[in-house]
Amino acid sequence: MIDESTAQLQELFHPEIEKNGLQLWVKREDLLHPEISGNKWRKLKYNLKAARTGNYQRLLTFGGAFSNHLLAVAAAGNHFGFDTVGVVRGEAHATLNPTLQRCSDLGMQLHYIDRTTYRQKHLPAVYTALLDAFGPAYLIPEGGSNSLGVAGCREVWEGISVPIDVVACACGTGATFAGLVDAAPAGTRGWGFAVLKQGEHLKGPIGQWLGEDWSTTASWDLITDYHFGGYARYTPELLQFLAAFKSQQGFALDPVYTGKLFYGLFDQVRQGAFRRGTSILAVHTGGLQGIAGFQKRHQLTW
Ligand SMILES: Cc1ncc(COP(=O)(O)O)c(C=O)c1O
Repeated sequence: MIDESTAQLQELFHPEIEKNGLQLWVKREDLLHPEISGNKWRKLKYNLKAARTGNYQRLLTFGGAFSNHLLAVAAAGNHFGFDTVGVVRGEAHATLNPTLQRCSDLGMQLHYIDRTTYRQKHLPAVYTALLDAFGPAYLIPEGGSNSLGVAGCREVWEGISVPIDVVACACGTGATFAGLVDAAPAGTRGWGFAVLKQGEHLKGPIGQWLGEDWSTTASWDLITDYHFGGYARYTPELLQFLAAFKSQQGFALDPVYTGKLFYGLFDQVRQGAFRRGTSILAVHTGGLQGIAGFQKRHQLTW
C-alpha cells in the first residue's frame, strides 16, 4: 500500500502572505510516492480496488506522451501486480521521452493512436477494439477521472484538523477539485485554477460530479485567468516563478499544474482577493515527474 501519512500538511511562509494577514497551508500530496504521486494515487486507489475485485489482471488507460497519469498507472501496475497497457495520443517517436521510457521500463505496453481516434476513445467501437487487441482489461479513463477517482480525492482531507476557509487546486478535468469540494468542511470555499484555455467548460463536469447545478452553486469558483496560453503552455514569468518558489520554499512545483495554481494564488493574494484572517489550503497534486520531459522538450532549465 501507499503510506498516505507521508502527505504532510505544511505551513508556507511568505512576506506576501504575512503582509495580507493570511495563513497558507500546503497539502504535500507530491510526497505520497515518487511516481504514483499526488492526485494520481488518490484517483487510482479505488479504481485499483475495483480492478482487483473484478479479478482483472490488466489495466488499460489513456494519456498524452508526457502524461503524469500514464506513468502513475505503469508504476501502480508494477507495484500492485497488474499488467498495464498505455494508449498514447499521437504518433510514436524513434526515441521515447523520459515519461514514456519510464512507463516502458515499468512494463507498460505502449500503443499509439491518432488524435482523431483518441478523441473518440469513449466510444464503444474504439475501446472494444482496444480490448479485443489487448485482451480483457480494467479500463481507466484518461487522468483517472471517474467517480471512483473523485471518491479517492475526497480523502485528501484526512488528517487535516486546522480550520480552512478556502481550498485550492489545479484543474485539468476538474475531478480532483470535485472530490476536494465534496468533502470540504461546511463553509469552506473551493477555488479551482483551470490550467487549460477553455476552463469554463469544466463547470459542467464538476457540477455533475458534485451532483449539483453549477450555475446555482455557492461553494466553489473556477478561476480561468492563469492558463498561460493553454494546456502545457508557459511564459518566462511562470518559469521565473517556479525557480523563485523552489529556492524560497525548498520544494518544487511543476510547470503544467501546480506552478499555475501557486502563481495564480499569489497573484490573487497580491490583488487583495482574500480578507485578512483567511486560512487557505493549496493542494500540491504532484506532477514532478513531468519536469524533466518538459525541460528537455523546450530546452529549458529553471
Ligand atoms: C499534477 C496534476 N495536478 C492536477 C491535475 C488535475 O487533475 P484533474 O484532471 O482531476 O483536474 C493533474 C491531472 O490529472 C495532474 O497531473
